Amino acid sequence: MKDLHCHLPFGISDGPPEISESLEMLRIAADNGVSYINAVAHYAPDSRSPVEHAVDSLREAAARYNITLHAGFEYTFMDLLESQEPFLTIGDSSSSILVDFNTDTIPSFAPMRFYEIMSKGTRIILVHPEILFTRHAIPMLTRLADMRVAFMLNAASFLPEALPPVRNMAHRLLRSGIAKLVASDAHAAAGPRRYVLQEARKAVSIQYGEENARILFEVNPDRVLQNLSPYDLNLPEEPFWKRWFSC
Ligand SMILES: [Fe+2]
Repeated sequence: MKDLHCHLPFGISDGPPEISESLEMLRIAADNGVSYINAVAHYAPDSRSPVEHAVDSLREAAARYNITLHAGFEYTFMDLLESQEPFLTIGDSSSSILVDFNTDTIPSFAPMRFYEIMSKGTRIILVHPEILFTRHAIPMLTRLADMRVAFMLNAASFLPEALPPVRNMAHRLLRSGIAKLVASDAHAAAGPRRYVLQEARKAVSIQYGEENARILFEVNPDRVLQNLSPYDLNLPEEPFWKRWFSC
């Protein structure tokens, strides 16, 4: 599996404080069957070289696990209001960037700002919408998906211990065809923000079948890394009344 969102770099923003924990996260990632990590920090001005330095110091250990590392950023929507080009993307062959709205409301001008950025060749992946938004945001999220903004869910949102509204929203976004990607968003070697990619893959496989799990966890991350659009999952369409009225 390719993990396109993992806070692996140590000593930066809210990632692991020490290199020892990053190394333990790498070991766990290998156990999860991960072969590529987009190792991100939250974007901050002048933080590109500390992120790249931290990632460089982990490359040798990663190679021993056959994991390729890429240094990336997770931007907020506010970061995008000013030009941040050149963006740090999710991979050398990809023009996709990770964007966190960081709020539960989507500004009405967001589609226009995304359009401006996308028209210059950058693709947008919105991260963990299931944590930020309720079903009331579905019309706006659908509008963004129609613009070919991609949506990436957190692996932990599929676990039994996820908060029910978050878990329900993750399933709703999958069944509605809005979200087609999952990543770890791991921040630590243990605790609630640990690495659970393989656990989530099993949960999705049980509920939606192995082929859909493969598309979600393997095929689509590969495709966006190659700058291709993610495939649709093969899921029965949710009745409209359930999409709008169930909790
Ligand atoms: Fe993140």
